[in-house]
Amino acid sequence: MNITLQTQTPPTGDLIIPVVQTDLTSQLTDLSQKLTLPLPTLQRDFKADAKEVVTVYKADGFKTYLLGVGPNPKAMDWLRTFRKFFFDQKGKLSAQVTIDLSQVEGDVVESVVLGVRWGGYDLKLYQTDKPDTPVFFSDAGQLSLLVSPRTEAVAQEAFIRAEAIAQTQRQMLDLMNAPANYKQPQTLADWAMNSGKQHGYSVTVLDKTELERQKLGALLSVSQGSDVPPVLIITDYKPADATNVLTVGLVGKGVTFDTGGVSIKTSSNMHLMKSDMGGAAAVLGTVEIAAKLKLPIHVVGIVPATENAIDGRSTKPGDVITSYLGKTIEIIDTDAEGRVILADGLGYMVRHYSPDILIDLATLTGSVIAALGYHAAGLFTANDALANKLTEAANQTGEHLWRLPIWDAYTEDIKSDVADVKNFSGKPVAGAISAAKFLEVFTENHPAWAHLDIAGMAFTDTEFGSQKNATGFGIRLLTSYLQALIAESR
Ligand code: BES
Ligand code: MN
Ligand code: ZN
Repeated sequence: MNITLQTQTPPTGDLIIPVVQTDLTSQLTDLSQKLTLPLPTLQRDFKADAKEVVTVYKADGFKTYLLGVGPNPKAMDWLRTFRKFFFDQKGKLSAQVTIDLSQVEGDVVESVVLGVRWGGYDLKLYQTDKPDTPVFFSDAGQLSLLVSPRTEAVAQEAFIRAEAIAQTQRQMLDLMNAPANYKQPQTLADWAMNSGKQHGYSVTVLDKTELERQKLGALLSVSQGSDVPPVLIITDYKPADATNVLTVGLVGKGVTFDTGGVSIKTSSNMHLMKSDMGGAAAVLGTVEIAAKLKLPIHVVGIVPATENAIDGRSTKPGDVITSYLGKTIEIIDTDAEGRVILADGLGYMVRHYSPDILIDLATLTGSVIAALGYHAAGLFTANDALANKLTEAANQTGEHLWRLPIWDAYTEDIKSDVADVKNFSGKPVAGAISAAKFLEVFTENHPAWAHLDIAGMAFTDTEFGSQKNATGFGIRLLTSYLQALIAESR
């Protein structure tokens, strides 16, 4: 399906008119005249609640849909409403569809485009008797976004950004939803290599031999129990003019399957642990988008990728390992593997790239889900300015962050008798915080480091499947953060 911006309504096709709940009477009055519908009927049938749909059949065979967006819709509300509409209606739409955004206040083009593209996404990756692609989402499909000539220039920019994000995010959804027999550490590396070639940024993959040579002992220890080798993926996007630009270092947890290792998980819901690479998806996706949009900022993305499997060779509880930075770690629980591989990811980043800003993302703890549920990711940083900027970006995209403390009082939890640090406190309290304190040890006191625990946000229940599935959490958030950073440093 092809999308274009228009300033005039195309002569044929289905028409979608989004309706915000505020000032409803006057809008419905206009619509009743425009569509020659009796106002009282319209008022009775349509309250413009979010995702509410009224279908008006026309004599020419096409349809007009009124689509409720609810009161005071924000970016995420527009996105969700359109995703749901297109997901539900995709089989019933004609090849030509127009969305009338000419009366809408504010810049919603990006959210609407993302919503439409996501509406066409389905989870049936491996089904063999898939129904044919609906005509609207096929090559023959054509979507016109009707905007007012006044806002066309702004809309055009938002549209290009949205198409770039949507296309990248879709691939990340596929990677996240892929099971472990279709997705190994090398699969992530291959994706990055292809992307780097296509979009002009450099990608280096350290294979197992190289990890051994360079002594990434923490990553290697987690991978020990698996038949598939680990990798460290380094993606590096530099703008053409790289003088005086900030360097942002992003590190993402890339566990392609987490059995827990010897501290094995219970079997209920273990299958969901194919999604334990949500941090990696956010990082890889953001670097690709930065390159596509040619953002004037230097972004380095590092992904330690491995399985956490169980075998005779697996790391055992009590083992002491040596990380890339030389610090020793006592492994109390092999299921606390994310922080262990991030120790090397962060260590490698600070040693080789000295980024101005350092952010890691990880599906790190069940504890953050106990604290915040499925409505916000945990944000950990000692840097107030960074916290504020990330929170602002998050509020803009609707991928909420909530700050939790990382006071030094919590350091007690990770003190080991035998090693520099231990990977689990052994106590059922403040698990997300002690995990953050553990990571902090490997940032070499970076003054602008933030950790995002996205365990509850990367893979969740949605209206689009019966089981949890990928959300793409973090990609839009980080992209919007980078753009704010650029705007500020101008
Ligand atoms: N990948 C899990 C965290 C997780 C849990 C992500 C649920 C998404 C949904 C992580 O590796 C893990 O197992 N964490 C343990 C740590 C504990 C053993 C200290 C946890 O949170 O239970
Ligand atoms: Mn684990
Ligand atoms: Zn994990």
